[in-house]
Amino acid sequence: MADFFSIDITEIEGFDNLHHAEGILQAAQERANRLYGADETFFLVNGSTGGILAAVMTAAKPGEEILIARNCHRSVYHAALMQDLKVHYYQPKRIREYDICDGVSAEEIGRLLDKYPESKAVVVSSPTYEGILSDVAGIAAVVHECGKILIVDEAHGAHLSYGGAIAAGADLVIHSLHKTLPSLTQTALLHVNGDRVDRDRLRSYLVMVQSSSPSYILMAGMDACIRYLEQEGQERFAFFREQWKVFLQKTAHLRNLRVGKMTDLSESGLALTDWDMGKILISVKDTGMTGKQLADVLREDYHIELEMATATYGLALMTLMDTAEGWQRLADALLQIDDRIEKERRGSKAAEDVLPGERKPANGGQQDSQTNGKAEDGEWQQEAVLTLAQAFHSESEEVSLHEAAGRISADFINLYPPGIPLAAPGEKLTQELLDEIEGCLKKGFTVHGVSSAGGIRVIVEIREKMWHY
Ligand SMILES: Cc1ncc(COP(=O)(O)O)c(C=O)c1O
Repeated sequence: MADFFSIDITEIEGFDNLHHAEGILQAAQERANRLYGADETFFLVNGSTGGILAAVMTAAKPGEEILIARNCHRSVYHAALMQDLKVHYYQPKRIREYDICDGVSAEEIGRLLDKYPESKAVVVSSPTYEGILSDVAGIAAVVHECGKILIVDEAHGAHLSYGGAIAAGADLVIHSLHKTLPSLTQTALLHVNGDRVDRDRLRSYLVMVQSSSPSYILMAGMDACIRYLEQEGQERFAFFREQWKVFLQKTAHLRNLRVGKMTDLSESGLALTDWDMGKILISVKDTGMTGKQLADVLREDYHIELEMATATYGLALMTLMDTAEGWQRLADALLQIDDRIEKERRGSKAAEDVLPGERKPANGGQQDSQTNGKAEDGEWQQEAVLTLAQAFHSESEEVSLHEAAGRISADFINLYPPGIPLAAPGEKLTQELLDEIEGCLKKGFTVHGVSSAGGIRVIVEIREKMWHY
């Protein structure tokens, strides 16, 4: 890997072909497969995105139905759009203490599959972007009992000690190597288990959604990552776990900031089973600070870059390669910031000295930045009048938020972070939802799908029939 140009080759003699692997690339995929313990593993050079597109399109044919968790990554929506699937949504509950989505309840999935028996597959993310893990074994049991395929987007969980969703029995599992392991950006794996998935169809889709010239630098990088894990993985994972435990002990003394932990959750009836050690969620609730301000302080004063920040928390992404010094620096920084908040609270110093720069909460600091749908009963309530594809291909126009009530959305309207659609193409825009979008904009949140002029795209003329299947 030292000289990138020297290994930036192509499908020359002896160097195999990813789309028809039978030589060194096949051996490398088998090495990855042995490590993770699936029935078959494919290299992905287009991130988890490519694997998710291929997995969803393999599991459900054009015009068929699918059940997905509403907090799925946009690639799941895009696959459903490209395949013109009719989508049913599972709406995870909310963990109110932290303003994030809960895990997926196996029982609720069972109930929704009874209600929507034509669904061909179920897609969930575990861990979620915020690190929330679900009972994948329980979900797999329910899904398989109904004869469906379970796809688990484990993009953020490639480091889950090779056990996660594969061992739990999911049919298709997607891992981003590049997120938490030592591997180049865009590198990912797709694993298949059992015989519910048509592997020929999957291979065909993988050819379609990926480059016909997959980069040998990326593929060599993946193999180097897998070999590294084979040789040093156990030791490194033990170190990772140890550092995480030490970090949790140190930050247990925080008085104002709060690090999210499974063991500290006081709410009952939640579905999550664990909280991934790769995600450190730092709640700023009741501190007078926003997550964004915490991120600014960490960057400017401590040279620590957070993965994401909302009004009520900041999220740090920890990887297998973080050093003890890195973990220590984050813990120390949080303890110091916590002290400064405490001093400010006690009025021992002027607020400007305590948190230099422009750090006054923009909105009181305590507004939720995340809308978790309307439903508490596990199902998304927004009415979908058209499929994603029908809406995408229909004639649309831009109207102001005030003119949009009762119209059908032509676009995704996503609140960032975390990016869960407030509305998807084909869904009816209610006044309540539009008020919510306006509220988010007023609070200064980023809402994708709203133009700089404040307009959103709605359907003018419905394209009733896309094609005949
Ligand atoms: C939950 C989830 N799934 C899938 C993806 C796509 O992964 P990639 O960037 O490897 O394509 C992301 C990207 O951030 C993600 O957050």
